Amino acid sequence: MSQAFSVEDYRRKARRTLPKIVFDFLEGGADAEHGLRRNLDAFDDWRFLPARLRDVSAVSIRTRIWEKDLALPVYVSPTGLNGILRPGADAILARVAARHGIPFALSTASNMSIEEVARAADGQKWFQLYVMNRDLADQMVIRARDADYDALILTVDVPVNGNRERDKRNGFGVPIPLNARTVADGALHLPWSLRLMRTGVPKLRNFETASAKTLSAQQALLSRQMDASFDWDDLARLRDAWPRKLIVKGLNRIDDAMRCQTLGVDAVILSNHGGRQLDSAEAPVRLAGPVSDALDIPVFFDSGVRRGSDVVKGLCLGVSMVGLGRALLYALAAEGEAGVDACLGIIAEEITQTMALLGAPIIEDLGPDFMTRVRTH
Ligand SMILES: Cc1cc2nc3c(=O)[nH]c(=O)nc-3n(C[C@H](O)[C@H](O)[C@H](O)COP(=O)(O)O)c2cc1C
Repeated sequence: MSQAFSVEDYRRKARRTLPKIVFDFLEGGADAEHGLRRNLDAFDDWRFLPARLRDVSAVSIRTRIWEKDLALPVYVSPTGLNGILRPGADAILARVAARHGIPFALSTASNMSIEEVARAADGQKWFQLYVMNRDLADQMVIRARDADYDALILTVDVPVNGNRERDKRNGFGVPIPLNARTVADGALHLPWSLRLMRTGVPKLRNFETASAKTLSAQQALLSRQMDASFDWDDLARLRDAWPRKLIVKGLNRIDDAMRCQTLGVDAVILSNHGGRQLDSAEAPVRLAGPVSDALDIPVFFDSGVRRGSDVVKGLCLGVSMVGLGRALLYALAAEGEAGVDACLGIIAEEITQTMALLGAPIIEDLGPDFMTRVRTH
């Protein structure tokens, strides 16, 4: 029986479950990690103003996006190298997302292939694209289309690598380097080590063929060396090449978001990559209101979401959906599929409870009048 009642409980358990080098990769941010902390603290800038004496005997957290029903207004954010947390991680996340009726986003840097994950679950699936090399990116776009992914997410906040000092200090890499420290730590986290030994070193499965091109792309991906010349013209070409929903992830400015809308992008994701890229980038929740007000297309955000009440605050500010990154990865590392299932259940319950306490029985009721802004930091 799980003793976890919140994302923070799963975080603590993940820290106990994983060797330090792996937990630090999952948890860490850029530079001094001020952005990482700011993402969490920023939610406290808004306090609720609950409305009383409203009928909240039946609260529904269902929503719709692009004429598709969603059981709750969240999606699984794309995260790479999930296989070092748990073997089969992306299939686990995709299955749980499908069971809960929410979209799952697969990273380019996945340890399972586009096709494997498509077969693993039949829910809504999005594919996240990193462009390290134009030819390989084109090929992945075709594969995602052929494997029936519903949407393509282009991540635009990694033109170059963020300065992840924890990873530098630990000498993080895949395979994890074997030295006295990592071997001793592996011995102290035996269930994790045994799982990894049984399944082998996680590979970047979207670059399976060992051509010189894919090998250099693998190295580029692991060190996050993207094609830094990718610009608005390339986005316009991608829009033409991809026939389904196109989402741009990693925006921090109204003008960029509006330009995406003009180019025919179907949704934008405000994100600072969970504080992993530019440490002083603004917390996305602080941009959610102005960007949602300025755009007609759906606006999503991620970074620092750890509670159902964080999701509700985003919805009050006008976003359509909220991405869960580390929140579910902690549960994945701590308790595998059962953990992710339970954690998503906890977040759904927190959203429901928050809306009942606010006096808002359906999502359409939520708006800025349910909150007041205070400057805390
Ligand atoms: C371990 C880890 C790996 C990530 N890998 C990717 C990735 O491959 N592609 C991507 O677009 N974003 C990636 N992200 C960023 C997430 O999609 C998301 O923006 C971020 O996790 C949100 O912040 P939060 O985890 O604090 O909620 C990664 C984040 C983490 C924590």
